[in-house]
Amino acid sequence: MASKCLGEESREKSMKIVAIGGTGLIGSKLVNKLREHGHEAVAAAPNTGVNSVTGEGLAEVLKGTSVVVDVSNSPDWDDAAVLKFFETSTRNLLTHGAAAGVRHHVALSVVGTDRLSESGYFRAKIAQEKLIRESSIPFTIVHATQFFEFLKGLADISMVGDKVHLPHVLFQPMSADDVATAVARIAVSAPMNGIVEIAGPEEFRVDELVRRRLASLKDPREVIADPNARYDAAKISEETLLPGNDAQLGETRFEAWLTQSAAQTSGAHPQPTGVAMTTNEKDSHKRAG
Ligand SMILES: NC(=O)c1ccc[n+]([C@@H]2O[C@H](COP(=O)([O-])OP(=O)(O)OC[C@H]3O[C@@H](n4cnc5c(N)ncnc54)[C@H](OP(=O)(O)O)[C@@H]3O)[C@@H](O)[C@H]2O)c1
Repeated sequence: MASKCLGEESREKSMKIVAIGGTGLIGSKLVNKLREHGHEAVAAAPNTGVNSVTGEGLAEVLKGTSVVVDVSNSPDWDDAAVLKFFETSTRNLLTHGAAAGVRHHVALSVVGTDRLSESGYFRAKIAQEKLIRESSIPFTIVHATQFFEFLKGLADISMVGDKVHLPHVLFQPMSADDVATAVARIAVSAPMNGIVEIAGPEEFRVDELVRRRLASLKDPREVIADPNARYDAAKISEETLLPGNDAQLGETRFEAWLTQSAAQTSGAHPQPTGVAMTTNEKDSHKRAG
């Protein structure tokens, strides 16, 4: 992914870019990267006075904005709540964005979303994407694969009794840092009016990589390769989670990320459970892709 530098396709030297969810895992990295490249990047989230669900602060923050990047996520995980979040938030962003003359709406979603409609979370992402496609604002939808930071969260949502049940299928996860680099580059490029896929440089089996991640955290939970296990309530097969051949690939390999992540953790305070977690994993235990 870093084969192209972030500013290479930039249309303008400095743009006002508002990151909805700009305080989250991807959002905070994205805002830093855009600022490093000279853009006026604004982190919009409830604790900075912008709520995309209630509409609070939206008209104000979008004044003079060229690009909106939606990297928000629902704080509530049940099917009805997540659908309400993405539908209401996306409608508000598109309505206020059109009124403010926003020229590019970018949203982060998940590789394979259309194939995962048995899951309430993914039905909400499908609804979000449909609203974006139907709006008058030029757009790019970024489909990312699972984040390395989400592997522990994936274990947490895949518990049957005290064991983690996961399918033995392929996926191509990536680091949150590579996600943010790609989203930043796409945000300053021309709208695609379509979907761009981004992914990690290596393929793994879901159950095997989660087992490796838990071992690295000294998390004692056993991971079972279960052919009947679902992915966030959706039935999946060998290639459901894989991107297509045109996906843009990140550079960070899993082992390198693990080493960096262990170095960060060694400076952190121990967790009450005795299970080490990086700051990013504390955030991404939430249901997310
Ligand atoms: N996890 C994965 O493996 C994966 C893979 C592909 C794509 N994705 C997608 O990536 C996106 C971002 O994920 P993430 O892990 O970076 O999320 P995250 O760390 O949970 O951050 C979510 C952000 O949304 C903000 N937010 C919540 N409610 C809001 C509201 N009403 N108005 C404005 N902002 C609001 C949060 O602010 P507060 O912290 O103040 O609440 C936070 O800044 C998600 O849409 C997800 O579907 C995830």
